[in-house]
Amino acid sequence: LGIDSIIVLDDFEKYARPVCPASAWDYYSTGVEGENSMKENSAIYDRVFFRPRVMRDVSDVDTSTKVLGVSSSIPLYVSPTARNGLVQPMGEVAVTKGAAAGGILQVLSHVASKSLEEVMKARSKGQQVAWQMYMKPDREVAAAEVRKAYELGAQSIWLTVDTVVLGKRTRERYTQVEKQPAPHGTKLTRVPCSREAQALTRHSRHDTNLTWEDIQMIKKNAPGLPVVLKGVGAWEDVVLAQQAGADAVVLSNHGGRQLDYANPPLKTLYDLNENAPQCLRRPDFQVFVDGGIRRGTDVLKALCLGANAVGLGRPFIYAAAGWGPDGVEKAIMILREELEISMRLLGVTNIDQLGPEYLNCSRI
Ligand code: FNR
Repeated sequence: LGIDSIIVLDDFEKYARPVCPASAWDYYSTGVEGENSMKENSAIYDRVFFRPRVMRDVSDVDTSTKVLGVSSSIPLYVSPTARNGLVQPMGEVAVTKGAAAGGILQVLSHVASKSLEEVMKARSKGQQVAWQMYMKPDREVAAAEVRKAYELGAQSIWLTVDTVVLGKRTRERYTQVEKQPAPHGTKLTRVPCSREAQALTRHSRHDTNLTWEDIQMIKKNAPGLPVVLKGVGAWEDVVLAQQAGADAVVLSNHGGRQLDYANPPLKTLYDLNENAPQCLRRPDFQVFVDGGIRRGTDVLKALCLGANAVGLGRPFIYAAAGWGPDGVEKAIMILREELEISMRLLGVTNIDQLGPEYLNCSRI
């Protein structure tokens, strides 16, 4: 199918499905348990409306911004997703090339199909790539991983904090995809938590005892790099993250793959506006949102509520699965076009002008 047939982001999912083996499809598309967080992540955007302003000059629109100091063509980055190579032979390198063409930051997963070395080698001149990590129980092992990412030139370190144990991914369990080793050796193994809870499982490579001090451990081993906490689900933890020295947070429920019924991130952002607006729109601390974002208007709504940028996971997997780097670039272009159109119709010309006054959140 020609890439010109792709008009909106959801088309990538529709067309990628037939090219994905069932196990890969289940792994990529699944949420946890009843998939309630996953569904609500996008459904909540449908309940937020705009209050557009008219009679303004919107001839020149600028969607560019900075994500952790890196110039970005739109307020968007590629969220880290594991195992892109289950379908796309280039794996995450396809995303690296597409992200370069589209001018946005890629965050590489700790459990990617391609190693950080391979991705760093595939970069275009000047391109930045961030690295996401899960915390190893042995902090010396974790520290060595951070040092390696630092030495390889990672732009920032994103510590995922919502995965102290693995959520119950029902569909994935049926297909047992996790038994397949990731190519560079980060095999996923599951061990029972306790005799009493044989049904519960966890990643042996995840730590169940993450603490706020771990932020300083990362900073010590990656001097000068921004540290981002990914997977915050309550506004109080944004305040604590900032106090603990994090440079940014991602409001996220892991695309509905960890705690089912964890709040949709847009609601967490709304709560942050209500309770701790001082954490938003700061020069020294950024707030990102991911989960269910598929349209330019979704991006715009999150920005109006004070997000500095948004992350997308699945759409880039599907775009890369079907069309490689071109698909990734096309996904970015679609969102950019939609964002530009929507900004003009809203009556704004750059993203600094956005604020909650442009939204009707009465049904959030
Ligand atoms: C993820 N996500 C994720 N997050 C992370 O920090 N490390 C990881 O390795 C992965 N792996 C992963 C695999 C797959 C298949 C998916 C779908 C997601 C979560 C991801 O970064 C992001 O939070 C969500 O994907 C955002 O939701 P959407 O855009 O997929 O709806």
